[in-house]
Amino acid sequence: IDHHPFNVNDKGNLEIGGLDTIDLAQKYGTPLYVYDVSIIRENCRAFVNTFRELGVNAQVAYASKAFSSIAMLQVVKQEGLSLDVVSEGELFTALQAEFPVEKIHLHGNNKSFHELTMAIENNIGCIVVDNFYEIQMIEKLLQEHNKEIDILMRVTPGIISKTHQYIMTGNEDSKFGFNLHNGQADEAFKLLYNHDYIRFKGLHCHIGSQIFETDRFVSATDLLFKKLKEWKNDYGFVPDILNLGGGFGIRYTSEDKPLPYNKYVEALVSNVKQHVEDVNIQMPEIWIEPGRAIAGNAGITLYTIGSIKKIPGVREYISVDGGLTDNLRPALYQAKYEGVVANKVNQPTTNEVSIAGKCCESGDMLIWDLPVPKIESGDILAVFSTGAYGYSMSSHYNRFPKAAVVFVEDGVDKQVVQRETFQDVVKNDLSYE
Ligand code: LLP
Repeated sequence: IDHHPFNVNDKGNLEIGGLDTIDLAQKYGTPLYVYDVSIIRENCRAFVNTFRELGVNAQVAYASKAFSSIAMLQVVKQEGLSLDVVSEGELFTALQAEFPVEKIHLHGNNKSFHELTMAIENNIGCIVVDNFYEIQMIEKLLQEHNKEIDILMRVTPGIISKTHQYIMTGNEDSKFGFNLHNGQADEAFKLLYNHDYIRFKGLHCHIGSQIFETDRFVSATDLLFKKLKEWKNDYGFVPDILNLGGGFGIRYTSEDKPLPYNKYVEALVSNVKQHVEDVNIQMPEIWIEPGRAIAGNAGITLYTIGSIKKIPGVREYISVDGGLTDNLRPALYQAKYEGVVANKVNQPTTNEVSIAGKCCESGDMLIWDLPVPKIESGDILAVFSTGAYGYSMSSHYNRFPKAAVVFVEDGVDKQVVQRETFQDVVKNDLSYE
């Protein structure tokens, strides 16, 4: 566990936030997501404080798709962050958490009329406009409501990020945003600039997720400024805001080598500062949207080990009581994780096993070839870094109820999402008899 921010207690059990994970598993059952809230706070502060130290006006918006729940958004609110939502459901959750509306930004490549209405009626801080259809809807709605709103234009800069194809978003062949190079962004600019009631504030770009190199972010910013320079020369446009997206990588396994978060911020800011001098404009506000980097390493998942199947000379399958229903990432992206037997952390590892989920899918494997001590059914497995895109991408496949979420801070545990019951699983089913 050397690479994870957790301790082992005298009993040899894994601890999180000062509490024994085995006690938590007994108290709340498994599978169980547990977050160390102090790590969420640390992550928030790493971004916010770096901007502050650099003296740059900024908004750090938590990308709530990574993990949205009322309690999570309350913590993020306490830390003074802004919030990125991409749907009515995420916006609804933010409103339930009483998140300050002026700090909420709405994203999406196919926002519905209803979604935009909800955003405008609730006076959220900013809509990141993605396409021409959306511009028309926003104009209509603002007219009807006799309101104005801040808008950023999402552009795709044509950057290939070194990550899984499914989480690449800045490349040219993408469903997101206006293409920066084929005239689309210019066309959108003409519609938005000097608008009567759309307050066009600047550009947004997000190049992808789980990115480790600062050079990709820097190249994207270079391309934004190439366009901004043109728009300044041709129209005198100067952006108030530049949103450079999220995607800052975290460590899942030893293959991942993220930088400390301040390094990403410093690289972005220093690049923007150079361009600002070059184009001779005022420093815009810098916005970023980390999701995984806020929630990812703060969360672990606890499972109970059940069946053990040895195939001599081939492999040992250790099955747990969850799987792709609570963590889709291995099945969807071949994502890799590390884990430990939480009640045997100090015991020497003796062999390698593969951790299987309990869904009816051969692809429901959580970890291949994990070194473990001698395992028995009933042991508790902890998988690390499951705080982002775990609960948020969970499903009811095979009619599994969704797992509970517990927050731990300063040695105190609090359930923040209840475990679903079987009644919850069938609650929308109607009879056909
Ligand atoms: N901003 C925008 C516009 C995004 O599309 C995303 C992620 C983020 C921010 C936050 O990215 P992050 O900092 O969390 O990497 N389900 C996938 C990740 C998909 C992310 C989609 N957009 C996964 O489990 O890896």
